[in-house]
Amino acid sequence: MSKSLKVAISSLMFTSAIYANEHSHMDHSVHQTGANEHIGHHHEAKFLNSQIDQFQRKLPLPPLVNGNFKDGVRNFDIEVKSGQWEFIDGKLSKTYGYNGAILGPILVMNQNEPIKVNIKNSLNEETTVHFHGAVVPESADGVFNAEIYPDKTKEVEFNLNQPAATLWYHPHTMHKTAGQVYKGLAGLIYLNDEASKNLNIPKTYGIDDFPIVIQDKEIGQNGELEYKTDAQEKLHGKSGGYLLINGIASPFVDIPNGIVRLRVLNGSNATDYKINFGGAKFYQVASDGGFLSAPVGMSELNLTQGERAEILIDSTKLKDKSYMFVNEIKALEMIKSKDGFIKEIPQTLVEIPEINSDLTKLNSREFELMSTQNGNFINGKLHDMDITDFRVKKGQEEIWEIKNGATMHDMAHSFHIHGAQFRILSRDGKTPPLNEQGFKDTLNIQPNETVKLLVKFDTTGMMVYHCHNLEHEESGMMGQFEILPE
Ligand code: C2O
Ligand code: CU
Ligand code: CU
Repeated sequence: MSKSLKVAISSLMFTSAIYANEHSHMDHSVHQTGANEHIGHHHEAKFLNSQIDQFQRKLPLPPLVNGNFKDGVRNFDIEVKSGQWEFIDGKLSKTYGYNGAILGPILVMNQNEPIKVNIKNSLNEETTVHFHGAVVPESADGVFNAEIYPDKTKEVEFNLNQPAATLWYHPHTMHKTAGQVYKGLAGLIYLNDEASKNLNIPKTYGIDDFPIVIQDKEIGQNGELEYKTDAQEKLHGKSGGYLLINGIASPFVDIPNGIVRLRVLNGSNATDYKINFGGAKFYQVASDGGFLSAPVGMSELNLTQGERAEILIDSTKLKDKSYMFVNEIKALEMIKSKDGFIKEIPQTLVEIPEINSDLTKLNSREFELMSTQNGNFINGKLHDMDITDFRVKKGQEEIWEIKNGATMHDMAHSFHIHGAQFRILSRDGKTPPLNEQGFKDTLNIQPNETVKLLVKFDTTGMMVYHCHNLEHEESGMMGQFEILPE
């Protein structure tokens, strides 16, 4: 694209972004944007989907795999490879994927079952596999001493002693995470337990229970995925281009007439998503770390990078053809076909433990996230692989107070902690909304907002915490700590 055309499109998109802000009560991120501030800013990423023939291709469904159960251990085989994929119609791009050209199989696991994942790296560069949201020791976390070099294999073993949840896996390769995720490496994990098996909610994969991985990627005229970051994108994160669901732009899906379950992941590098169904009410039933105590009725869901939500929607109340909107564009066309099996949304879901720890007795820590022209900092410092910022003990609880310090960039951040599921105690001193009262591992923090978390450490080893805007993570917004054995 020529530079002048790019400028023309930028100013056009910039104008429409302002227009959208003026007419939306939901978007309070209107900020004074200087002429030199580029438009890929994650508050206002606009997508190009309307430039292609939309809703012609079916929603891709990654294979759902149960692994091989042998000698009491569930084994999964994963090959990290490069491939070719059609993001937009008729054009191929080079990509990365797990066992395929893009994304990865959905690994179905059970609580407290020995798991072994056999990973083979067929890329031409090193990679690691991190199980996001899984409370596993350093040896299985995919960050420290976890590189798998080209043509090498690695066996990772763990046990998930946590509630049923939709988790995910992706690379966590030092200085290469953002590019490798962007090229396609991301997969879901469906963790089941007794409670989830007994819930009367949709569970038939691809029929009434759908994985929805939302991402946005820049794709060139020739169909090639482009991951290049200029200095501004390094600070803001890579956002914009085409909005993709399960790897393709603007797909359609057949849904039953009845209750439909969507397991949604924000798998983007740097974009926050606002998800709705054109005003139709839906119910969030699970957050990152598991089911909520009861379905929470909502008309819009915000999902930040790395965050998951499971939602139920009663399609009998929708038109025959309806849409899931993401950041105000039609992202997925939903077409009612057959009659569904599940007709009602349950009143209650699972029991979530009350927060009854004596909070005044707990150790607390403060973290300030800051973006400046010189990089993305936590407590004034860039990530340093040689420094252990602090140590904690397994079994302990702590209060973590995270503040998004205002800066010239006025950006929201996505904060994620390894080795733990946490509870949100407050947002700016107020009780969090109902859909944030369950287990979480990732959350959005608005400019100048302070959140308090109750974090419990249930595993051991070196762990990291970081902004899940992957360019922020890579440019320094990460810290590391060690969980010592009890
Ligand atoms: Cu989803 Cu540290 O990562
Ligand atoms: Cu993680
Ligand atoms: Cu950030």
